[in-house]
Amino acid sequence: MKIQRIGILTSGGDAPGMNAALRAAFRRIKAASPKNEVVLFREGLNGLAGRLAVNYLGNIERRNLRDIINRGGTFIGTGRVPELKPAPADCEDVEAWNRLRKETTQVAVVNLRQLGLSAIIVVGGDGSFKGMLHICSSYAETYGEQIRLVGIPATIDNDIWGTEASIGFDTALNNTVMCLRNLRDTIDSHRRCAILEVMGNTSGWIALSAGIAGGATTIMLPELPDTWKLEKVLARVRAAVRMEYRYIIIVMAEGVRERSGNDRLGEDLMRAIEGDSEIRRMLGRPLETRLNIIGYLARGGRPSAFDNLLASRLGVAAADAALDTKLDHPVMAGLVQNGVVLFPFEEVVRRSPRLVSPTDDLVDVASSLLVQEDQNF
Ligand code: F6P
Repeated sequence: MKIQRIGILTSGGDAPGMNAALRAAFRRIKAASPKNEVVLFREGLNGLAGRLAVNYLGNIERRNLRDIINRGGTFIGTGRVPELKPAPADCEDVEAWNRLRKETTQVAVVNLRQLGLSAIIVVGGDGSFKGMLHICSSYAETYGEQIRLVGIPATIDNDIWGTEASIGFDTALNNTVMCLRNLRDTIDSHRRCAILEVMGNTSGWIALSAGIAGGATTIMLPELPDTWKLEKVLARVRAAVRMEYRYIIIVMAEGVRERSGNDRLGEDLMRAIEGDSEIRRMLGRPLETRLNIIGYLARGGRPSAFDNLLASRLGVAAADAALDTKLDHPVMAGLVQNGVVLFPFEEVVRRSPRLVSPTDDLVDVASSLLVQEDQNF
């Protein structure tokens, strides 16, 4: 069997379980042949498209990846490289952008070539996948041969098409639900209202799932404008007050601020609730409202058993694909009906991010569980 040299990197927002994926891919590659080599890149795509001397960890041995499985984040570092993206619509100097994009891509391509890698495994989200696909396409154009590319979906946002779960989502969801429960204790004690802003920029999976699992009053999702119209949210809060709830919790995905074009939507909502005359009339006083932002606290911490198990399964499958000399197109290992399936990488990239749609079953579940404005039972 030909000896293979395989590169692995973690990229984009870190996700709990990334370390377990690295460890699993490494062990599988070495189990196939101890002579196979694994190299790691520090700082994600930044490392690959940067100075090799400081960003490259060669000849990785088993002891280098010991005692990492229960650590959150990624022990080799991660990063985003916006320069690898096509010029954004509002870019003032498209030519300069394209020049920088080309230069950055070329550095990564030359680095890959210099290391003599037969395959590269990228652990990350859809932005990292797009960047890596762009680099590998340029590699093929430059050298007339392919470098095998394999993706492992890892993002707390859970918005990668082709997998029912991405690494990190379960941990972030549990962290978020824990915050929601803690919040509920204090909100209930004071008979107040709370707005809890949770992570999720383009997609609202964390908000939707945490809101259902933690028993929120209502949930505001970037994808569904009806869920964040001020009048609608107010009407639901009024209904909850009418039903004599002691705790009212509104879960809001961070992306709602951008999608609504109002960066201070949380504050505005807080003021609207506190100033609402109907609520004041029902309660005999204003409904005190507190705004809380979980932010990065949800992204860190020890990975859940589910995430480590998922990462181990996907890591092993990705290693097998990376070692497969017959594989002639980039793929991503995803979880489908509790089995691991390989999907064409280009399709994954084209169909991601996977957004919440009004027809999703979780939206249907939420509609039966959340407080509705015309709630009559
Ligand atoms: O990794 C996904 C995510 O945590 C999103 O939920 C969030 O909007 C974004 O990353 C934050 O990005 P950054 O780490 O670059 O601030």
